[in-house]
Order: sequence, then structure tokens, then C-alpha cells
Amino acid sequence: MKIPSYHQNLLSDTQRLTAFYEAIKEKSRGIIYDLGTGSGIFSSWAAPLASFVYAVEKDYRTAKFAQKNLKSFKNVSLQINDAKNITFNEKADLIICEMVDTALIDEEQVPVLNAVRKYLKNSGDIIPCGVFNGVEAVHLKNSHPIYQEGNISQNELRSKLFIYDKIDFKEYIKEKVEYNINIPINKTGIVSGIRISTFTLLTPKIICGTTPMLNPPLLIPTNQLNMKKDENIFVNLKYTMGGGLDTIRVSVERIP
Ligand SMILES: C[S@@+](CC[C@H](N)C(=O)[O-])C[C@H]1O[C@@H](n2cnc3c(N)ncnc32)[C@H](O)[C@@H]1O
Repeated sequence: MKIPSYHQNLLSDTQRLTAFYEAIKEKSRGIIYDLGTGSGIFSSWAAPLASFVYAVEKDYRTAKFAQKNLKSFKNVSLQINDAKNITFNEKADLIICEMVDTALIDEEQVPVLNAVRKYLKNSGDIIPCGVFNGVEAVHLKNSHPIYQEGNISQNELRSKLFIYDKIDFKEYIKEKVEYNINIPINKTGIVSGIRISTFTLLTPKIICGTTPMLNPPLLIPTNQLNMKKDENIFVNLKYTMGGGLDTIRVSVERIP
């Protein structure tokens, strides 16, 4: 059976895998849910340390692949289903859920956790346990939101990174959000977009920056402003977490 190429790319991102491996090794115990198991790799790491692992994958083709990878583990069961629709019969000591994407907009991390969190024991953990989202003012040429490939030139950056949100996955997360952010401009030139970067906390002590397959920076075009160093812009940013990139609305204004 051939591994879907998306999962092959996930498994080639060693920085992402190393961070998850360390967190799973540290936190695995008792009953574990592995939501969005993909190739099944996290379940295979967790199973030797757990009493039972409930793996869930909604994509049929991917789940068949996971089934094959996990068949030798007697304490793992795999359900092919949307994790939001499952009724679990026993509560979890650990929920592993890697549906993380930049600002949590385009994947279902937030709706899934909002649906499943009630099955987590009070003493339980979630991997990842949260994210930080940061924004910078930039000069962009793209006309719709795209994920950055490679580096952005220093010439295109117009500000420092400003952390505008910190999300704790153990708390209920509002899905439809709006942020009003003031950003000091540190380089004269055109501002025509923002760049969002998301940093993932696997555990409170393990942070994973943007990697090719874990939250590549998101480049979002805006209206255009000619800005001078030491002026400020006001950014109004709205989106729905889990709603997709089409839900993004952004505008920038010069602060007089
Ligand atoms: C980023 S991949 C992670 C795969 C694997 N855990 C890993 O890290 O290598 C996310 C996986 O979650 C699955 N997925 C997305 N939404 C889901 C949902 N609502 N319920 C169950 N699985 C879902 C996708 O099909 C995909 O296989």
C-alpha cells in the first residue's frame, strides 16, 4: 500500500516529529485518544506506554493505511470517523490531536477539541497544549492568502513580530474571532499585507516554531499604505478557526 504523499511529507519533517516524539514520550499514560491519526505514527509511539489508545481518522484511504501500520498493537483501536461525532466510553488521560495549522484557521483543531474536551479527565493533558500567534506588517505581491515557501526577504518586512494571541487547548476556544492590533512600523515603505506565524506548544516546556509541515507562515494581502519608520498601523483581523482561509477578513489603517 502506498502512503499518501501528504503523510509522506509530514513524516519527512524531522523537526515536527522530534517535538511530538519528546512530548508523547513524556505525557503518555492510561487512556489515550489520537485524533487525526494519519499514518498512525503517534499511536504507535503512545501504545507501549498506554493501557489503551483510541485512534481516529476521518479520511478512509488514510485510515486504511493506519490500520495496516497499527495492526500489531493489541491495545489500539482505530475508528474511521469524524472525531467531532464520536462518543467515547472512557475518559482520556491524554488527547493527542495534530490538526494544527497557522492560526488554526484551515484545519479542525479547534472544533474537534471543543467537541472532545469533555472526555478529558481533569488531570489529563492535551498534545499540543496550545499555540502562540504572531503578526508582522509586510509588503506582499500575492492577491489572496498563501502559505510562505522559503524565506521572506528582510526588505519586505516592515515591523517586528507582535504576539497577538495565546491559546490554551484545555480551555473552551471561541471559533469566530476578531483582533484589533497596533503595530509599530520599523522600516519606511509600502505595507500591503500581514504575515501570521504560529508557534506550537507541544507541552508547556516544548515549543516548536514554524516548520515546513507545521504552520508555515501565512501571507495575507491587505489594502496598501505608504508608511514611514516609527509610524503605527492599526490592523483589524477576523477569521473563523476551522472555517478555512476564505473566512479571513483584514484591513489596515494608519494611526494618525
Ligand atoms: C496534520 S495530519 C496529522 C497526521 C498524524 N497525526 C501525524 O502527525 O503525522 C491531520 C490528520 O487529521 C485528519 N483529520 C482532519 N480532520 C479530522 C476530523 N474532524 N476527524 C478525524 N480526523 C481528522 C486528517 O485526515 C489527517 O490525516
